[in-house]
Amino acid sequence: MPEKLSIVGIGGTTSPGSSTEQALQIALRAAEAEGAQVTLFDGAFLAALPHYGTGAVEQSEEGRKLVAAVRGAHGLMFASPGYHGSISGLVKNAIDYVEETSKDDRVYLDGLPVGLIVTAYGWQATGSTLATMRSIVHALRGWPTPLGAAIRSVSGMFKGGECSDDAARGQLELVGKQVVEFARLRNSAPAILHTGPVEE
Ligand SMILES: Cc1cc2nc3c(=O)[nH]c(=O)nc-3n(C[C@H](O)[C@H](O)[C@H](O)COP(=O)(O)O)c2cc1C
Repeated sequence: MPEKLSIVGIGGTTSPGSSTEQALQIALRAAEAEGAQVTLFDGAFLAALPHYGTGAVEQSEEGRKLVAAVRGAHGLMFASPGYHGSISGLVKNAIDYVEETSKDDRVYLDGLPVGLIVTAYGWQATGSTLATMRSIVHALRGWPTPLGAAIRSVSGMFKGGECSDDAARGQLELVGKQVVEFARLRNSAPAILHTGPVEE
């Protein structure tokens, strides 16, 4: 097992004090408290990524950094706001960069736990966005954690990196812990799962 598990968080918006980003930070702190080394790709970073497509990685230092971090990760967390009932373009564009790993020995997110966090003003969008994110992770052969954090964000709920709602904070911390718990199991047990390319 590696000395430190690397957990990479990708998410947030470009809003100052983004609640999505603060929610992700709370989950990452919980992972850190479990002994993991954490890295955050926040809203500002995601906004600097070119639209993913042919040549995007060659043209962008940020793109290369993101793909390298995903390749070295033992677990991931994605955090998106619900925009029109689904994942935001900013976060989806970052996830599109995972396509670069399609021909790696570890294909896409094969065998990686992925914690999912959604913020939205209404419950309907938290549910539909979370379901979409789970589908994306399944498409990439990752393992969504059993708990996905669906946070109905109200003004002032996230301030200075803290969350005033105990239930929401509890969900976020549990997502962080579940990612580390699965990564630990996965990296300490002998590989029993097929991880190579699969005919589809
Ligand atoms: C373009 C846009 C679309 C949105 N669509 C929805 C929506 O369909 N349902 C909802 O409940 N909230 C919606 N919202 C509210 C966002 O989910 C909310 O602003 C987000 O949780 C705030 O995240 P942030 O503080 O990280 O920027 C939308 C906001 C924007 C800017």
